[in-house]
Amino acid sequence: MSAANCSLFDLSEDTAVVIGGTGVLGGAMAEALAAAGARVAILGRNAERGQARVQRIEKNGGTAMFHAADALDRDSLREARDAVSATLGPVSVLVSAAGGNHPDATLPPGSDFCGLSREAWDTVFDLNLTGGVLLPAQVFGETMLARQRGSIINIASMAGMIPLSRVVAYSAAKAAVLNLTRFLAREWATQGVRVNAISPGFFPAEQNRALLMNDDGSYTERGEQIIGHTPMARFGRPEELGGAVVWLASRAASGFVTGQNIVVDGGFISTTI
Ligand SMILES: NC(=O)c1ccc[n+]([C@@H]2O[C@H](COP(=O)([O-])OP(=O)(O)OC[C@H]3O[C@@H](n4cnc5c(N)ncnc54)[C@H](O)[C@@H]3O)[C@@H](O)[C@H]2O)c1
Repeated sequence: MSAANCSLFDLSEDTAVVIGGTGVLGGAMAEALAAAGARVAILGRNAERGQARVQRIEKNGGTAMFHAADALDRDSLREARDAVSATLGPVSVLVSAAGGNHPDATLPPGSDFCGLSREAWDTVFDLNLTGGVLLPAQVFGETMLARQRGSIINIASMAGMIPLSRVVAYSAAKAAVLNLTRFLAREWATQGVRVNAISPGFFPAEQNRALLMNDDGSYTERGEQIIGHTPMARFGRPEELGGAVVWLASRAASGFVTGQNIVVDGGFISTTI
């Protein structure tokens, strides 16, 4: 690759925050951003996992820190934002990756939609929409707007594009994530802040592993069905989200891109189900 091409994906002027970088996909995206030169802050509730990811990044020559934060608590996000800015410089990239399904909001096979509890529904909407987009965008958007510079990347899901069976609350919440992403993109388009989404297909992680895989590593029935509908006939690997996140983070590479949803799913959405 020529030097000119390399600089398209050079994030050495950027400080990136990954909320939920304690998790499988957020952690992998944090590593990709750091490998592209960004100073990376991992925000989340689990210090042990956050610190472990920081150590991996540092071992690979990157710069990273962990700061505790709850995506559902505005004050905690503000406190983390200010601490990160003081240590690594003002935040120019936000990856909002706290989210996931909840077992109580998953309908058993053939079960009745009318029995889905309000509490389970609210839990999934709170985490994915309020903690996954609204509060982080408000808190980090505030300082990005003041500097007229920022790229916000919300982690939606392929489930937000089509209503997947059984995970009804999660699908509906992620559809709302995509809608709010486009709203914010339009709202801030002339103010230097771009807002996009990445929609992963199926990647085994903490929050969905039991749905996809048995304890012995074999696929569950649902896992088998998903693989059967995925043209690439496999689940995704977390590092396969790295290219999309670095591209969207980079002003040089995607400076005229906002309001988009980048799907990384092995072709799942391209097939009829
Ligand atoms: N794994 C997949 O197949 C898949 C597919 C599509 C979308 N996604 C989305 O990717 C994102 C990352 O999920 P993952 O699959 O890596 O799951 P994960 O469970 O490994 O990671 C999620 C992380 O978010 C953290 N978190 C949860 N609530 C939080 C809160 N209130 N404040 C701060 N951190 C909080 C968790 O502790 C965890 O570390 C989620 O938005 C998920 O919906 C995942």
